[in-house]
Amino acid sequence: MNPCLVCKTPVETFVSFGPQPIANGFIAEKDLGREYFFEMEVAFCPECKMAQLVRQPDREQMFHENYPFFSSLSKGMVEHFRKFSETLLTKHIRSAAPFVVEMGSNDGIMLRNFQEKGIRHLGVEPSGNVAEAARAKGVDTWTEFFDEKVAEKIVAERGQADAFFTSNVFCHIPYTHSILKGIDKLLKPDGIVAFEDPYLGEIVANTTYDQVYDEHVFFFSLHSVSYLFGRHGFELFDVEPQETHGGSMRYYLARKGARPVSERVRATLAQEKELGLDRIETFRKFAKNVEASRDAFVALLRKLKSEGKRVVGYAATSKSTTILNYGKIGPELIEYICDTTPLKQGKVSPGMHIPVVPHERFAADRPDYAVLFAYNHRKEILAKEKAYAGEWITYVPNVHTFANG
Ligand code: SAH
Ligand code: TMP
Ligand code: ZN
Repeated sequence: MNPCLVCKTPVETFVSFGPQPIANGFIAEKDLGREYFFEMEVAFCPECKMAQLVRQPDREQMFHENYPFFSSLSKGMVEHFRKFSETLLTKHIRSAAPFVVEMGSNDGIMLRNFQEKGIRHLGVEPSGNVAEAARAKGVDTWTEFFDEKVAEKIVAERGQADAFFTSNVFCHIPYTHSILKGIDKLLKPDGIVAFEDPYLGEIVANTTYDQVYDEHVFFFSLHSVSYLFGRHGFELFDVEPQETHGGSMRYYLARKGARPVSERVRATLAQEKELGLDRIETFRKFAKNVEASRDAFVALLRKLKSEGKRVVGYAATSKSTTILNYGKIGPELIEYICDTTPLKQGKVSPGMHIPVVPHERFAADRPDYAVLFAYNHRKEILAKEKAYAGEWITYVPNVHTFANG
């Protein structure tokens, strides 16, 4: 049995996805044969209630100068982070001249809102290319992996912060205690932490097993977040469910006793107990649902193929890597995947090697079916694809087809 990454208690593996490549490892045809694979398994800790990956590739294999995920490509997410910044500034940050720090600031999608208001800020972003895109917008960014040492350096050079926030990053980082010690050093006594990540409750409820990939080492719930931060003197004082990334949770934390704990925290903790997010049995059942979902998806693709239908993928998401490799779905079932990211185009998908093509190709050739891999951007995509008369395929919350409109 493996020790829990958070509390060292032996964990129980409840689902295995077999060998998986780097989820964002879109690869040029000439580099085929040099791909890295790891055995992907998820386990549950009975003590701190953290669902977690059993093993994970080295961080430099995932986050580097060719990181292909640019946050600002989604208009919906740009708006989401504009609102998030407003919420922080109007409801939570008390200082009149605050200093804010973001971990994993990517291309500046969030910090841009602070920069434009002349607010002191710093982004810590290890992937060189996206960090550069942020700097080009005037967002102050260090190209580093945030940890305790970097926190000390920030305090030495810029002073302590009023707020530390991070979205879709915390769940990527196995060395949580170094992050927490860093936050503790970085934050002023009445400073706050706000972060959001895909929510375990949604993953279980919707069988969105594609949230499991190399970068997502933790699947947080209020139970596990309270435990982890509690060990470092922090308290969860509010939560807000989000629609982003297929269902996320935003957590607000401060030092114990510093802020009143909202009723929503107590209510959501009780709800988690009802859903069984604190018990291994729930995850054993989830594993069965995962297998059933995969089988239904593969069966549908094979049926369409036998009927001579043309099926393509819409958006080469990191999530799609899990679905495709777990179901062993290659170009024989999905002809290509269209995507708006130039860095992904002209390459093939990790592991199963489905060609990734520009969106224009999809717009031009009108296939019979399109698999909506970016279901987290469903509204935005369906709104702009009204002209597409073919059917859509989704596997959320179960495998089915639908027409737009
Ligand atoms: N916050 C953005 C980007 C999320 S993608 C959004 O929500 O859209 C995850 C980002 O985390 C990547 O840009 C990656 O380079 C960064 N990252 C990974 N490990 C990190 C670490 N230790 N410190 C800071 N950023 C990290
Ligand atoms: P995400 O699911 O991790 O946010 O990644 C989104 C991916 O989907 C990214 O590669 C860009 C792509 N995409 C499109 O191709 N078209 C779109 O309309 C949207 C919103 C995203
Ligand atoms: Zn644990």
